[in-house]
Amino acid sequence: MARRIVVVGSINMDLVTQAPRFPQPGETLLGDGFITVPGGKGANQAVAAARLGAEVALVGALGRDAFGEQLHAGLREEGVDLAHVHRLDDQASGTASITVAGGENQIVVVPAANAGVMPTHIEAAREVVARADVVLVQMEIPLEAIEATLRLGKRVGVPVILNPAPARPLPAEWLALARYVTPNQHELAVLLGADPTEDFRALMRRAPGAVVLTRGGEGAWYREQGNEPAHQPSFDVAVVDSTGAGDTFNAALAAFLHEGLPQAVRKACAAAALAVTRLGAQPGMPHRQELDAFLVR
Ligand code: RIB
Ligand code: NA
Repeated sequence: MARRIVVVGSINMDLVTQAPRFPQPGETLLGDGFITVPGGKGANQAVAAARLGAEVALVGALGRDAFGEQLHAGLREEGVDLAHVHRLDDQASGTASITVAGGENQIVVVPAANAGVMPTHIEAAREVVARADVVLVQMEIPLEAIEATLRLGKRVGVPVILNPAPARPLPAEWLALARYVTPNQHELAVLLGADPTEDFRALMRRAPGAVVLTRGGEGAWYREQGNEPAHQPSFDVAVVDSTGAGDTFNAALAAFLHEGLPQAVRKACAAAALAVTRLGAQPGMPHRQELDAFLVR
Protein backbone atom coordinates (compact mmCIF):
# COMPACT_ATOMS: atom_id res chain seq x y z
CA MET A 1 0.00 0.00 0.00
CA ALA A 2 1.16 3.49 -0.76
CA ARG A 3 2.61 5.45 2.13
CA ARG A 4 0.51 8.41 3.25
CA ILE A 5 2.56 11.56 3.72
CA VAL A 6 1.37 15.02 4.79
CA VAL A 7 3.71 17.88 3.91
CA VAL A 8 3.29 21.20 5.71
CA GLY A 9 5.23 23.98 4.04
CA SER A 10 5.94 26.65 1.50
CA ILE A 11 4.96 26.93 -2.15
CA ASN A 12 7.04 29.27 -4.35
CA MET A 13 7.54 30.12 -7.97
CA ASP A 14 11.28 29.80 -8.63
CA LEU A 15 12.76 32.40 -10.99
CA VAL A 16 15.96 30.68 -12.06
CA THR A 17 18.77 32.51 -13.84
CA GLN A 18 21.83 30.66 -15.11
CA ALA A 19 24.97 32.77 -14.99
CA PRO A 20 28.66 32.14 -15.82
CA ARG A 21 29.45 33.18 -12.22
CA PHE A 22 27.81 35.13 -9.38
CA PRO A 23 27.77 38.92 -9.84
CA GLN A 24 29.51 41.25 -7.38
CA PRO A 25 27.37 43.88 -5.58
CA GLY A 26 26.64 46.62 -8.13
CA GLU A 27 27.77 44.50 -11.08
CA THR A 28 25.65 43.58 -14.13
CA LEU A 29 26.36 40.26 -15.83
CA LEU A 30 25.00 38.71 -19.02
CA GLY A 31 23.31 35.43 -18.11
CA ASP A 32 23.02 32.15 -20.02
CA GLY A 33 19.34 31.30 -19.49
CA PHE A 34 16.19 31.88 -17.50
CA ILE A 35 13.29 29.61 -16.48
CA THR A 36 10.36 29.86 -14.12
CA VAL A 37 9.74 26.55 -12.34
CA PRO A 38 7.49 25.56 -9.45
CA GLY A 39 9.37 25.37 -6.16
CA GLY A 40 9.18 26.06 -2.45
CA LYS A 41 10.41 23.52 0.05
CA GLY A 42 6.94 22.28 0.96
CA ALA A 43 5.75 21.91 -2.61
CA ASN A 44 9.06 20.34 -3.66
CA GLN A 45 8.86 17.72 -0.93
CA ALA A 46 5.24 17.01 -1.81
CA VAL A 47 6.05 16.53 -5.50
CA ALA A 48 9.12 14.40 -4.83
CA ALA A 49 7.17 12.13 -2.45
CA ALA A 50 4.29 11.79 -4.94
CA ARG A 51 6.70 10.81 -7.74
CA LEU A 52 8.16 8.16 -5.45
CA GLY A 53 4.71 6.63 -5.13
CA ALA A 54 3.42 8.11 -1.88
CA GLU A 55 -0.11 9.42 -1.35
CA VAL A 56 0.58 13.07 -0.54
CA ALA A 57 -1.46 15.91 0.95
CA LEU A 58 0.02 19.41 1.16
CA VAL A 59 -0.87 22.04 3.77
CA GLY A 60 0.10 25.56 2.69
CA ALA A 61 -0.95 28.85 1.14
CA LEU A 62 -0.94 30.56 -2.26
CA GLY A 63 -1.91 34.03 -3.39
CA ARG A 64 -4.69 34.73 -5.86
CA ASP A 65 -2.23 35.73 -8.57
CA ALA A 66 -1.04 34.20 -11.84
CA PHE A 67 1.80 32.32 -10.13
CA GLY A 68 -0.74 30.93 -7.68
CA GLU A 69 -2.82 29.54 -10.56
CA GLN A 70 0.21 27.93 -12.20
CA LEU A 71 1.52 26.48 -8.96
CA HIS A 72 -1.87 25.06 -8.03
CA ALA A 73 -2.30 23.46 -11.47
CA GLY A 74 1.21 21.99 -11.38
CA LEU A 75 0.69 20.40 -7.98
CA ARG A 76 -2.67 18.98 -9.07
CA GLU A 77 -1.02 17.38 -12.11
CA GLU A 78 1.49 15.70 -9.80
CA GLY A 79 -1.42 14.12 -7.93
CA VAL A 80 -0.94 16.05 -4.69
CA ASP A 81 -4.09 16.48 -2.53
CA LEU A 82 -4.61 20.26 -2.33
CA ALA A 83 -7.68 20.37 -0.08
CA HIS A 84 -5.57 22.16 2.56
CA VAL A 85 -3.77 24.57 0.23
CA HIS A 86 -5.45 27.91 0.97
CA ARG A 87 -5.79 30.73 -1.54
CA LEU A 88 -5.25 33.98 0.36
CA ASP A 89 -6.96 37.16 -0.87
CA ASP A 90 -4.80 40.25 -1.45
CA GLN A 91 -1.61 38.18 -1.21
CA ALA A 92 1.09 37.39 -3.73
CA SER A 93 2.34 33.82 -3.99
CA GLY A 94 5.82 33.12 -2.63
CA THR A 95 8.79 33.55 -4.94
CA ALA A 96 12.42 32.49 -4.94
CA SER A 97 14.91 34.41 -7.08
CA ILE A 98 17.65 31.89 -7.77
CA THR A 99 20.97 32.36 -9.51
CA VAL A 100 22.76 29.17 -10.57
CA ALA A 101 26.47 29.30 -11.45
CA GLY A 102 28.87 26.37 -11.66
CA GLY A 103 26.48 23.95 -9.96
CA GLU A 104 26.03 26.27 -6.95
CA ASN A 105 23.13 28.58 -6.17
CA GLN A 106 22.19 31.81 -4.42
CA ILE A 107 18.56 32.22 -3.38
CA VAL A 108 16.37 35.05 -2.12
CA VAL A 109 12.96 33.83 -0.94
CA VAL A 110 10.04 36.22 -0.50
CA PRO A 111 7.49 34.25 1.58
CA ALA A 112 4.40 36.42 0.78
CA ALA A 113 1.38 34.04 1.09
CA ASN A 114 3.57 31.44 2.87
CA ALA A 115 3.78 33.88 5.81
CA GLY A 116 0.00 33.44 6.12
CA VAL A 117 0.14 29.73 7.01
CA MET A 118 -1.44 29.72 10.48
CA PRO A 119 -1.88 27.20 13.30
CA THR A 120 -5.61 27.21 12.43
CA HIS A 121 -4.71 25.82 8.97
CA ILE A 122 -2.72 23.03 10.65
CA GLU A 123 -5.60 22.25 13.02
CA ALA A 124 -8.00 22.18 10.09
CA ALA A 125 -5.87 19.38 8.57
CA ARG A 126 -6.04 17.31 11.76
CA GLU A 127 -7.90 14.38 10.21
CA VAL A 128 -5.59 13.96 7.24
CA VAL A 129 -2.57 14.24 9.57
CA ALA A 130 -4.03 11.62 11.92
CA ARG A 131 -4.39 9.17 8.97
CA ALA A 132 -0.82 9.78 7.73
CA ASP A 133 2.20 7.51 8.17
CA VAL A 134 4.55 10.48 8.43
CA VAL A 135 4.48 14.30 8.34
CA LEU A 136 7.16 16.51 6.81
CA VAL A 137 7.65 20.18 7.76
CA GLN A 138 10.33 22.76 6.86
CA MET A 139 10.97 26.36 7.93
CA GLU A 140 9.73 28.70 5.20
CA ILE A 141 6.45 29.15 7.08
CA PRO A 142 5.84 30.97 10.41
CA LEU A 143 7.28 29.41 13.56
CA GLU A 144 3.78 29.13 15.09
CA ALA A 145 2.73 26.89 12.20
CA ILE A 146 5.82 24.72 12.64
CA GLU A 147 5.15 24.38 16.35
CA ALA A 148 1.47 23.56 15.68
CA THR A 149 2.56 20.82 13.26
CA LEU A 150 5.01 19.28 15.73
CA ARG A 151 2.42 19.34 18.52
CA LEU A 152 -0.35 17.94 16.34
CA GLY A 153 1.88 15.08 15.21
CA LYS A 154 2.67 14.28 18.82
CA ARG A 155 -0.99 14.44 19.81
CA VAL A 156 -2.24 12.09 17.10
CA GLY A 157 0.81 9.82 17.31
CA VAL A 158 2.18 10.42 13.80
CA PRO A 159 5.97 10.88 13.42
CA VAL A 160 7.08 14.31 12.17
CA ILE A 161 10.27 14.89 10.19
CA LEU A 162 11.48 18.45 10.79
CA ASN A 163 13.68 19.72 7.97
CA PRO A 164 15.11 22.85 9.61
CA ALA A 165 15.71 24.84 6.42
CA PRO A 166 16.30 27.70 6.26
CA ALA A 167 17.65 27.44 9.79
CA ARG A 168 16.61 29.57 12.74
CA PRO A 169 17.27 28.80 16.40
CA LEU A 170 14.41 26.71 17.83
CA PRO A 171 13.48 25.79 21.42
CA ALA A 172 15.12 22.44 22.29
CA GLU A 173 11.68 21.25 23.36
CA TRP A 174 10.42 21.56 19.77
CA LEU A 175 13.35 19.55 18.46
CA ALA A 176 12.41 16.81 20.89
CA LEU A 177 8.86 16.74 19.44
CA ALA A 178 10.19 15.75 16.01
CA ARG A 179 10.86 12.07 15.26
CA TYR A 180 13.77 13.08 13.03
CA VAL A 181 15.50 16.39 12.46
CA THR A 182 17.21 16.64 9.06
CA PRO A 183 19.65 19.56 8.94
CA ASN A 184 22.86 20.15 7.09
CA GLN A 185 25.88 21.00 9.24
CA HIS A 186 25.27 24.75 9.16
CA GLU A 187 21.59 24.33 10.02
CA LEU A 188 22.35 22.02 12.92
CA ALA A 189 24.78 24.53 14.40
CA VAL A 190 22.16 27.30 14.11
CA LEU A 191 19.49 25.10 15.69
CA LEU A 192 21.68 24.28 18.65
CA GLY A 193 23.10 27.80 18.93
CA ALA A 194 26.53 26.17 18.50
CA ASP A 195 29.75 27.09 16.74
CA PRO A 196 29.35 26.07 13.05
CA THR A 197 32.99 24.95 12.88
CA GLU A 198 32.43 22.38 15.63
CA ASP A 199 32.79 18.78 14.44
CA PHE A 200 29.43 17.71 12.99
CA ARG A 201 29.49 14.35 14.81
CA ALA A 202 29.86 16.18 18.11
CA LEU A 203 26.92 18.41 17.14
CA MET A 204 24.86 15.32 16.28
CA ARG A 205 25.53 13.81 19.68
CA ARG A 206 24.34 17.02 21.35
CA ALA A 207 21.01 17.19 19.47
CA PRO A 208 18.06 16.12 21.63
CA GLY A 209 16.61 13.49 19.26
CA ALA A 210 17.36 11.45 16.16
CA VAL A 211 19.29 13.37 13.50
CA VAL A 212 19.82 12.74 9.80
CA LEU A 213 22.52 15.15 8.64
CA THR A 214 23.10 15.88 4.94
CA ARG A 215 26.59 16.69 3.68
CA GLY A 216 26.09 17.27 -0.04
CA GLY A 217 28.73 15.39 -2.03
CA GLU A 218 29.88 13.65 1.15
CA GLY A 219 26.57 11.87 1.62
CA ALA A 220 24.59 11.73 4.84
CA TRP A 221 25.10 10.78 8.49
CA TYR A 222 22.35 9.47 10.70
CA ARG A 223 22.03 8.87 14.39
CA GLU A 224 19.26 7.42 16.52
CA GLN A 225 19.47 8.47 20.15
CA GLY A 226 22.18 6.63 22.03
CA ASN A 227 23.85 5.27 18.88
CA GLU A 228 27.01 6.45 17.20
CA PRO A 229 26.54 8.42 13.96
CA ALA A 230 26.55 6.16 10.86
CA HIS A 231 27.56 7.20 7.34
CA GLN A 232 25.89 6.76 3.94
CA PRO A 233 28.21 7.81 1.08
CA SER A 234 26.77 9.89 -1.76
CA PHE A 235 26.21 8.62 -5.29
CA ASP A 236 28.53 9.98 -7.93
CA VAL A 237 26.76 12.21 -10.50
CA ALA A 238 27.48 15.36 -12.54
CA VAL A 239 25.94 18.26 -10.60
CA VAL A 240 23.98 20.74 -12.74
CA ASP A 241 21.85 22.40 -10.04
CA SER A 242 21.66 21.37 -6.40
CA THR A 243 18.48 23.42 -5.74
CA GLY A 244 15.92 21.07 -4.20
CA ALA A 245 18.40 18.29 -3.43
CA GLY A 246 17.54 18.57 0.26
CA ASP A 247 13.83 18.50 -0.53
CA THR A 248 14.18 15.35 -2.60
CA PHE A 249 16.26 13.80 0.19
CA ASN A 250 13.59 14.53 2.81
CA ALA A 251 10.74 13.29 0.62
CA ALA A 252 12.53 9.99 -0.06
CA LEU A 253 13.43 9.62 3.60
CA ALA A 254 9.73 9.94 4.48
CA ALA A 255 8.61 7.65 1.66
CA PHE A 256 11.01 4.84 2.60
CA LEU A 257 11.18 5.25 6.38
CA HIS A 258 9.19 2.03 6.86
CA GLU A 259 12.14 0.12 5.30
CA GLY A 260 14.29 1.18 8.25
CA LEU A 261 16.53 4.21 8.67
CA PRO A 262 19.71 2.94 6.91
CA GLN A 263 17.77 1.92 3.80
CA ALA A 264 15.69 5.12 3.81
CA VAL A 265 18.85 7.24 4.04
CA ARG A 266 20.46 5.26 1.20
CA LYS A 267 17.44 5.80 -1.06
CA ALA A 268 17.25 9.46 -0.02
CA CYS A 269 20.89 9.96 -1.10
CA ALA A 270 20.19 8.24 -4.42
CA ALA A 271 17.04 10.30 -5.10
CA ALA A 272 18.91 13.52 -4.26
CA ALA A 273 21.75 12.52 -6.60
CA LEU A 274 19.29 12.13 -9.47
CA ALA A 275 17.65 15.47 -8.65
CA VAL A 276 20.86 17.49 -8.98
CA THR A 277 21.53 16.32 -12.54
CA ARG A 278 18.91 18.74 -13.95
CA LEU A 279 18.30 22.49 -13.76
CA GLY A 280 15.54 23.52 -11.33
CA ALA A 281 14.29 21.87 -8.16
CA GLN A 282 11.34 19.83 -9.42
CA PRO A 283 12.44 18.93 -12.99
CA GLY A 284 15.09 16.47 -11.76
CA MET A 285 13.09 14.78 -9.02
CA PRO A 286 12.96 11.08 -9.88
CA HIS A 287 9.94 8.84 -10.26
CA ARG A 288 9.96 5.53 -8.45
CA GLN A 289 11.04 3.47 -11.50
CA GLU A 290 13.95 5.82 -12.23
CA LEU A 291 15.15 5.56 -8.64
CA ASP A 292 14.88 1.75 -8.64
CA ALA A 293 16.86 1.57 -11.91
CA PHE A 294 19.55 3.91 -10.54
CA LEU A 295 19.92 1.80 -7.39
CA VAL A 296 20.64 -1.44 -9.28
CA ARG A 297 23.01 0.00 -11.87
O1 RIB B 1 14.81 23.93 -1.33
C1 RIB B 1 14.74 24.56 -2.56
C2 RIB B 1 13.66 25.60 -2.56
O2 RIB B 1 14.02 26.61 -1.67
C3 RIB B 1 13.45 26.29 -3.89
O3 RIB B 1 12.53 25.62 -4.71
C4 RIB B 1 13.03 27.68 -3.50
O4 RIB B 1 11.67 27.93 -3.73
C5 RIB B 1 13.37 27.80 -2.02
O5 RIB B 1 12.22 27.83 -1.28
NA1 NA C 1 17.81 20.01 -9.88
